[in-house]
Amino acid sequence: MKYISCLQVAALLWSANTAVAQNGPLPYLRVPDQRQLDWQRQELYAFLHFGPNTFTGEEWGRSQSLPDIFNPTTLDTDQWAKTLADAGMEGMILTAKHHDGMCLWNTSTTTYKVANSAWAKGRVGLDADIVRMAAGSAKKYGMKFGVYLSPWDIHRDPAMPKPGLQGTIYDEPQIFGDSSPGDYNTLYTQQLTELVTMQLADGTPIDLFEVWLDGASGSDTVQTFNWTGFREVIRAHQPSAVMWGHQGPDARWVGNEDGFTVPTNWNTISRTQDDAHYSGEELERGVRDGLYWTPAESDARIRDGWFYHADEPSKSGTALMDMYLKTVGRGVNLLLDVPPDTRGLIADVDAANLMEFARLRKATLSRNLVTPDLKTSSSSVRAGDSDEYGPGKVIDGREDTYWTMDDDKLTGWVEMELDNVYPVDGFIVQEHIALGQRIGGYGIDAMANGDTEYRVLVNGTSMGYKRIDLLETAVETSRIRLRVTQANAVPLIQGVQVLGSRR
Ligand SMILES: *[C@@H]1O[C@H](CO)[C@@H](O)[C@H](O)[C@H]1NC(C)=O
Ligand SMILES: *[C@@H]1O[C@H](CO)[C@@H](O)[C@H](O)[C@H]1NC(C)=O
Ligand SMILES: *[C@@H]1O[C@H](CO)[C@@H](O)[C@H](O)[C@H]1NC(C)=O
Repeated sequence: MKYISCLQVAALLWSANTAVAQNGPLPYLRVPDQRQLDWQRQELYAFLHFGPNTFTGEEWGRSQSLPDIFNPTTLDTDQWAKTLADAGMEGMILTAKHHDGMCLWNTSTTTYKVANSAWAKGRVGLDADIVRMAAGSAKKYGMKFGVYLSPWDIHRDPAMPKPGLQGTIYDEPQIFGDSSPGDYNTLYTQQLTELVTMQLADGTPIDLFEVWLDGASGSDTVQTFNWTGFREVIRAHQPSAVMWGHQGPDARWVGNEDGFTVPTNWNTISRTQDDAHYSGEELERGVRDGLYWTPAESDARIRDGWFYHADEPSKSGTALMDMYLKTVGRGVNLLLDVPPDTRGLIADVDAANLMEFARLRKATLSRNLVTPDLKTSSSSVRAGDSDEYGPGKVIDGREDTYWTMDDDKLTGWVEMELDNVYPVDGFIVQEHIALGQRIGGYGIDAMANGDTEYRVLVNGTSMGYKRIDLLETAVETSRIRLRVTQANAVPLIQGVQVLGSRR
């Protein structure tokens, strides 16, 4: 082609313009990695604290017991995974080693492991590696699997005398601490390496979805950990695993262990795991427009302690539901501790409460009145392109589509017409966080049956991955409106569910 006609130039310019106008919104400041996004969608999973403390009644055992203390009478890791899967949990994280240092897998780094117990020796022809067994059971029941490996190790800490181990093969070098001879970082790195490269009995690799790097220490011994090295080992072998720590790097502590966070919650913070620690309140809230995408995880318990103690009550389904609404309902993952008992089973009462919790979630939240064919409208649509960005995208049930507007619009609304008048008593709204967290204020309104004006039902602040708002009393309505009242960049609404009863 030698020349381009004016008409062709105009057509080219026109299509170039359209292409620009139809471009999707750019990421806003920090955005999640794919692993963080996948993890966020897990929402609810279990913590399994199991080890010598289960049998001594302690929470922080002081490495005084011989491995024979570990003696579950009817251990069945399948029962753990099946119980948790039946209760709608997405994964489980096991304490491969708690502060007492006794390893639940058959490690080559220490003699202090359950593999040296009479229990393990009695399992002739059967597996005695609890981590491998639990990982196999998780896989069998479609659950994700993760590990907790305590950095603080009393078994190696000279500040913690261990008279009970003296003169046994378990009396090992006290290498924990910068001023102790030997390098604890090398030992910890070896333990971590064994865990992140572990295979199931049939040789298939074990995929970890989370590695829990606890910051707790109850000793004055100063040990400088090689965190950079630990993280490299995890990333190299388990690139999909989210690393949990006080301030990340991938997921942060929510600032308390009671199963709640404050109503306003940001997925970003402005300190790394290696910086000075935020207070609990700062961790609960996070930092708007912070420097790092480090969403919160709430670690909470079904009982009072982390380990099983027979005399402790188990929380009811209603109490667990309340926790869920104040964590998952505020965009924070819930890691609920369900400790196996001295039989090596999840206690019947805990299992029953988990099932009631699951029933309540379903009864409350699986009542979406919105179907993809409903009529929707909005204050505006990005580039007028309803196929890409229209209000219908909030009800299509997809995670990769959203309603949005032109970049200069920071507030706006989307409205939907239900196929009938229903008693509406709750909402689930989701921001498309794959492109960052933008929204700092939203409202949900209904035009009640017979009314001609909207009435405000919900005033929210940060939206984020998911918000669940339940009403005290149901409203008879067929028209719902979501308003974005504050955003720092054009808001992207991924989903709106309207909860209520179909008669
Ligand atoms: C632990 O591993 C060692 C070395 O491979 C092996 O000899 C031993 O039988 C294993 N113990 C258990 C309980 O599986
Ligand atoms: C930390 O661990 C990494 C990886 O194991 C290693 O290369 C590095 O030398 C260690 N750093 C220190 C200060 O020991
Ligand atoms: C929401 O905020 C508005 C304006 O501040 C107020 O009038 C209304 O009562 C609030 N509604 C609810 C349900 O909190």
